[in-house]
Amino acid sequence: MKHILRSQQFDRPNLERLFAEVGVIAKMLDTQEGRFNLRSMLTGRIMCTLFYEPSTRTRVSFETAAHRLGMDVITTENAAEFSSAAKGETLEDSIRVIAGYGIDAIVLRHKEDGASDRAAGIIDRLGLATHVLNAGDGRGQHPTQALLDLYTIWDEMHHRIDGLTVVIGGDLANGRTVRSLAYMLSRFETKIIFVSPPELAIGDDIKEHLREHGIEFREESSVAAALPEADIVYWTRVQRERMVDPALRARNFSEYRIDGETLKLLKQDAAILSPAGGALAARLMHPLPRIDEIAKEVDDDPRAAYFRQAANGLYVRSALLLRLFNQVIPV
Ligand code: CP
Repeated sequence: MKHILRSQQFDRPNLERLFAEVGVIAKMLDTQEGRFNLRSMLTGRIMCTLFYEPSTRTRVSFETAAHRLGMDVITTENAAEFSSAAKGETLEDSIRVIAGYGIDAIVLRHKEDGASDRAAGIIDRLGLATHVLNAGDGRGQHPTQALLDLYTIWDEMHHRIDGLTVVIGGDLANGRTVRSLAYMLSRFETKIIFVSPPELAIGDDIKEHLREHGIEFREESSVAAALPEADIVYWTRVQRERMVDPALRARNFSEYRIDGETLKLLKQDAAILSPAGGALAARLMHPLPRIDEIAKEVDDDPRAAYFRQAANGLYVRSALLLRLFNQVIPV
């Protein structure tokens, strides 16, 4: 795998192997001795984080991972304003120049769907060695987020994904994380319930993909109609910045807010038993940033997994960088 552009690149054995590697790397990154052993695995490599849209987690976790592995890092956190894109340079020209400097990996976030495909396309056409990692392209995909989301489910559910009912809710029309996650969930025997206002429903292409892969799913417009069935709730924010209709942008979506009262709908027992035999409680996840669609009062509930999920971003992105450069982690 030269580039990481979309979720469909990962099949089930590939994902399971990655999760085992992430587990090992997580343990290493959490100890001084482990960090010491990782610190020079990618020495001499350069990673450029090229972000045309805002980010906290994706950019910082990629850069932390790179530093921990001994890479040098060049960053443009506001490329839309502070790169030559502001003067009208095309993405293709910028990528051609940056890859031409011998940069080993470009982590790209861009407002346009397909931007990472275009970046990888020009690199491959010129025969350059640079890897492209899609860190979110418009309403398209965010595959490294989906990998950390799926790893979180696997980790929280004691290494099981089959048999789970996953409720995916919020703004499903504009959210790229939900699209990437749905593709990855289709590698497992899961049931998906999409919850959204009708105007923000999941795309037909995702539904078509799930049908093709025999994944049971349905759509609901009410939170209460879905939450009691959930083993995993994956909630997302309303992305008003991507809405073109002013009336929709101004609409109140407060009925899609999860607070302490809504949380009472979430079952204590998930479909999966823990290795010790006891039932596992359902989990509430969110890719973050959270605005007001999950109330702060929920944060202290043990079923709220979203900050543990964000922490997993460092481990997953470290594993991905090692993989791209053929550094094998024994599992
Ligand atoms: N989840 C996510 O992509 O967060 P950032 O926008 O902060 O990178």
